Amino acid sequence: MRIILLGAPGAGKGTIAKMLVEKYGIVQISTGDILRQAVKEGTETGKKASEYMNAGKLVPDEIIMGIIEERIEKPDCAKGFIFDGFPRTIPQAEALEKLLAAKDMTIDAIVNLEVPEDVVLKRLTSRRTCSNPDCQAIYNIYTMPPEKEGICDKCGSKLVQRDDETEEAIKVRLATYYEKTQPLIDYYKSNKTYFAVSSLIAQETFDEIVKRLGK
Ligand code: AP5
Repeated sequence: MRIILLGAPGAGKGTIAKMLVEKYGIVQISTGDILRQAVKEGTETGKKASEYMNAGKLVPDEIIMGIIEERIEKPDCAKGFIFDGFPRTIPQAEALEKLLAAKDMTIDAIVNLEVPEDVVLKRLTSRRTCSNPDCQAIYNIYTMPPEKEGICDKCGSKLVQRDDETEEAIKVRLATYYEKTQPLIDYYKSNKTYFAVSSLIAQETFDEIVKRLGK
């Protein structure tokens, strides 16, 4: 099973991807998580990406395509994967098509998570993420709080706010989404695997996607 999750920053891509991973036993490929890890490790990619990310801008397409090409080659992708936060521009979508065709791979579903902008803004300022790179569980101080404040229920690590969660960076991320990523909806609309779901209550969103996938 191979899935693309589309949606604005804070639409719930990471949250829903983690639920689908458990259900289908496939892997989540979050370009955001991969980049944040590269920044933390101080790799060449991380050094190039951090300035863009902290400002809320998109990392150049060539860097992203290099990451994707390398990632889908890994053995854990054999059963399938979920792209969370990729593709994010029309050139990335075009490059992905070529890459998949060369590997004889197809996408089973392209899912757009729909959320009103005011909800997204509130979610981004109230999200907390597990600081453990192997866990990265996502919480929300209002809608999905951890049992113990500031501590991850799953692994006991500290919960943190991301570096791009400043009000200024959030504004730029949303503007970048409308300019560069939202046009992907029109790009994919005619694809027979495309569908949109409301992403207001995580369990309902997940149930709807599973129903639509029919598997
Ligand atoms: P990335 O990490 O992909 O960030 P994003 O797209 O801005 O998405 P988020 O992770 O902020 O939100 P999400 O939709 O996953 O929501 P979540 O589930 O956490 O990218 C970061 C940066 O990396 C980019 O700005 C760019 O610089 C770079 N980058 C990454 N990919 C790139 C690419 N392909 N090309 C170029 N650059 C790239 O949920 C948010 C909050 O809401 C949480 O608190 C959660 O608990 C809550 N929540 C979620 N769903 C629900 C629900 N249904 N009900 C109630 N609360 C909910």
